[in-house]
Amino acid sequence: MKHLSSALGLVALSYLSFVAAQNVTISLPSAIPANATVLDPRLCSMSLEFQSLEYYAGELGHPNQFTHNVVKNIVDRVGQPPAMRVGGNTQDRTYYDPSVLAVRLPAGNASVPNPTQMQIYVGPDFFKLAKNLPADTMVTFGVNLKFNNLTDAVDEAKAIFAAFPKGKAGRVVLERIEIGNEPDFYFDGVDSYADRWTEFAQNISQAVNLVPGQGPYFQAGDFAGHSANNFSITRLLQTDIVSGDTGARINTVAQHNYMGNGATGTISTLLDKSLVRGSLANFKSDIAYANSKGYTYILGETNSFYNGGATNASNTGATAIWATDYSLQAATLNITRTYYHNNIASGYQHYYPAVYNIWEPVGNVVIGNITTTKPQIQPQYHAFLVVAEAIGKTGKSRVAEISVGSSQVSAYGIWEKDELVRMVVINQQPWTYSSTGTRPVTTIQLQGLTSKKATVKTLYVPYADIAQGLTWGGQNFATDSGLPSGKVVTQNVKNGQINTLATSVNLITFHK
Ligand SMILES: *[C@@H]1O[C@H](CO)[C@@H](O)[C@H](O)[C@H]1NC(C)=O
Ligand SMILES: *[C@@H]1O[C@H](CO)[C@@H](O)[C@H](O)[C@H]1NC(C)=O
Ligand SMILES: *[C@@H]1O[C@H](CO)[C@@H](O)[C@H](O)[C@H]1NC(C)=O
Ligand SMILES: *[C@@H]1O[C@H](CO)[C@@H](O)[C@H](O)[C@H]1NC(C)=O
Ligand SMILES: *[C@@H]1O[C@H](CO)[C@@H](O)[C@H](O)[C@H]1NC(C)=O
Ligand SMILES: *[C@@H]1O[C@H](CO)[C@@H](O)[C@H](O)[C@H]1NC(C)=O
Ligand SMILES: *[C@@H]1O[C@H](CO)[C@@H](O)[C@H](O)[C@H]1NC(C)=O
Ligand SMILES: *[C@@H]1O[C@H](CO)[C@@H](O)[C@H](O)[C@H]1NC(C)=O
Ligand SMILES: *[C@@H]1O[C@H](CO)[C@@H](O)[C@H](O)[C@H]1NC(C)=O
Repeated sequence: MKHLSSALGLVALSYLSFVAAQNVTISLPSAIPANATVLDPRLCSMSLEFQSLEYYAGELGHPNQFTHNVVKNIVDRVGQPPAMRVGGNTQDRTYYDPSVLAVRLPAGNASVPNPTQMQIYVGPDFFKLAKNLPADTMVTFGVNLKFNNLTDAVDEAKAIFAAFPKGKAGRVVLERIEIGNEPDFYFDGVDSYADRWTEFAQNISQAVNLVPGQGPYFQAGDFAGHSANNFSITRLLQTDIVSGDTGARINTVAQHNYMGNGATGTISTLLDKSLVRGSLANFKSDIAYANSKGYTYILGETNSFYNGGATNASNTGATAIWATDYSLQAATLNITRTYYHNNIASGYQHYYPAVYNIWEPVGNVVIGNITTTKPQIQPQYHAFLVVAEAIGKTGKSRVAEISVGSSQVSAYGIWEKDELVRMVVINQQPWTYSSTGTRPVTTIQLQGLTSKKATVKTLYVPYADIAQGLTWGGQNFATDSGLPSGKVVTQNVKNGQINTLATSVNLITFHK
């Protein structure tokens, strides 16, 4: 019988003396691959359902300190905070009401304590909450298209621009306006969506006096992912949506993606190398088409499993492994950002708040079957740290996948000025609470290693299906403040070899 608390207390690096169960050789490319893509420092970004902004940002004039702390950890590594998109299902259930100050949700009662949020009313102060976010946060605000009420959408847009005079609220930047969420659910074809979108974009541009050639820009698409009725980004960019002043204001197209349904999602999906690749490969032709026409392609909303996530999967150690692979895989396909979705006070009754949240900025909330007493990070937050550190601070690093002859090990190279500077090695072999025997270790043999010295930092995950006990480079980030405790631990690569635990990530740094 295993005792979780003592297992979590193990010295994370004691596996080094274990016998390798298998060996994998990785050949380091001698030159940067021709198809390497530029890494956006905001690759791992945040998407928030409307009412969640109040929790993540904090009340007016009272920035949420936990959010500031966990974002600081990211800024320390990559130089920029995650971008924030405020949108999702609630975007098309949000109505502007000037008599409401920030947010008004439907009231709960004893039989339905968390009613489904069919209607959210927001007033002028709601959009001003964004000013509380960390400096240099790039914000995208959604506008309600489904309501099909131009007056309401224009009022909403005016309130957004009033909160961002000259496109800025303090040091927070209004990057884009997203008109409509997942329109493939409520338009019968891409052409009718494009026509209506253009009408909304024209009225909004006029009402807020947008200046040609200057931000904020518009984001279009935001499809849930239906290929039925021709809702693809390629088809969209062949409609009239691209024409005129409003077309010229689109610089980014977005698609949404999840690995599956929250009702059935499991960790084995998250740790499946080929499923991750298959899920993202679906978008290759759309990305290529969008890029050929000059548009940036993003996953404007994504996460492990839709409908708020899957309990016992979306809030476990497996997500830290998954989101590292998923984000970097997306980047190699030139998906410049992955906006991970978060929802607090969701009203999706079984997921209150959503189990896939990256961090919980407030206490007294229920995550899976656990009630938190204070703000906390979730395991997936570690992927934000690892990816941030892999990208680094130059703003010009590039990434390509390095092929590995294993279905359970993935590798990505990161280049700066054509030089391989870092490499992420992901061991996707599952190690769970019910696994027995010795935890498997795969020895990675690096071929073609030329740097004099290489060091490794490890993301330690006690069990793929447990939320607690993760450390990154020996440091614990699951602290009350969200700031790390403990000293950074790195190891030297010896004889071109590193030992990787089943269910772990290793970041190798090549020193000159
Ligand atoms: C892995 O490689 C090391 C070093 O080359 C070798 O000593 C060991 O026997 C190999 N293990 C397996 C399982 O092949
Ligand atoms: C409780 O709230 C639900 C959802 O808003 C509503 O349908 C129901 O009538 C309410 N029950 C009572 C007793 O007010
Ligand atoms: C939309 O724009 C048209 C054309 O300028 C204008 O007549 C109409 O009043 C606008 N509607 C709203 C709700 O702003
Ligand atoms: C459209 O929105 C305006 C402003 O919120 C509201 O007064 C009006 O009743 C709405 N129209 C419809 C048909 O709902
Ligand atoms: C989708 O597009 C194709 C080719 O443009 C067309 O033949 C087909 O009828 C369209 N399907 C729908 C459902 O609109
Ligand atoms: C990736 O997308 C950017 C736009 O975001 C574009 O400038 C660049 O050319 C694309 N890169 C590749 C390799 O297609
Ligand atoms: C989560 O895992 C625990 C332990 O295996 C189990 O008792 C519980 O039923 C699971 N919860 C769900 C929602 O699957
Ligand atoms: C980049 O090129 C390599 C080598 O041709 C290929 O294996 C890989 O699939 C390409 N990657 C992408 C994202 O197209
Ligand atoms: C709650 O989840 C944990 C694992 O996360 C599990 O050990 C425990 O049995 C679960 N409790 C209930 C009541 O489902």
